Amino acid sequence: MRRYITTVVVLLAATGVLYSALPVATAADIAAAPTGVTVPKGYRDWQVIAPSQRDDNDEIRVILGNNIAMKAFRTNTLPFPDGTILAKLAWKRVASPEFPKTFVPGVAPRIEFMVKNSRKYASTGGWGFGRFIDGKPADAQVHATCFPCHQANVKGHDFVFTRYAP
Ligand code: HEC
Repeated sequence: MRRYITTVVVLLAATGVLYSALPVATAADIAAAPTGVTVPKGYRDWQVIAPSQRDDNDEIRVILGNNIAMKAFRTNTLPFPDGTILAKLAWKRVASPEFPKTFVPGVAPRIEFMVKNSRKYASTGGWGFGRFIDGKPADAQVHATCFPCHQANVKGHDFVFTRYAP
């Protein structure tokens, strides 16, 4: 009996180790947003367009782009061509434990994407918006807020806030 319990405990521990080594959710596992936007494969390897930070909610952001996006930013091409995808990663900023005057990324409250498809998303400036929280898409009500804010503030830059930081 004792031996049996030991075996079960060891097996459970091993499973736990294996399980925690798996990524939380891969892009393909995450359901599409109500807009049809999905988490693009490999987005974490994209290039940086610019960082930003928001003071009122203590967030650090990094805006990334796929190759089509990077080329458009570097050549000042507007409007962005179809196939452009922009990613906005965000983290709560926390003081570095090793050097408290520096802020470092804490938890990631959401990831967001804008996908250019001028026909499919004609009613929202040619952009499909997607927000994902803890591996799940936000609801339609949340998605209804995206375009109005981008439209109200950056209509003259193809509804994109971020400028390329050389
Ligand atoms: C109240 C205004 C507002 C709303 C609502 C909003 N955004 Fe934005 N968004 C911004 C601002 C400001 C930026 C500039 C970068 C930053 O905030 O760090 C931005 C940047 C982005 C970017 C990077 C490209 C760019 O335009 O700079 C993406 C992707 C994005 N938002 C997606 C979304 C999605 C998806 C939603 C809806 C779920 C949404 N946004 C709703 C204000 C808004």
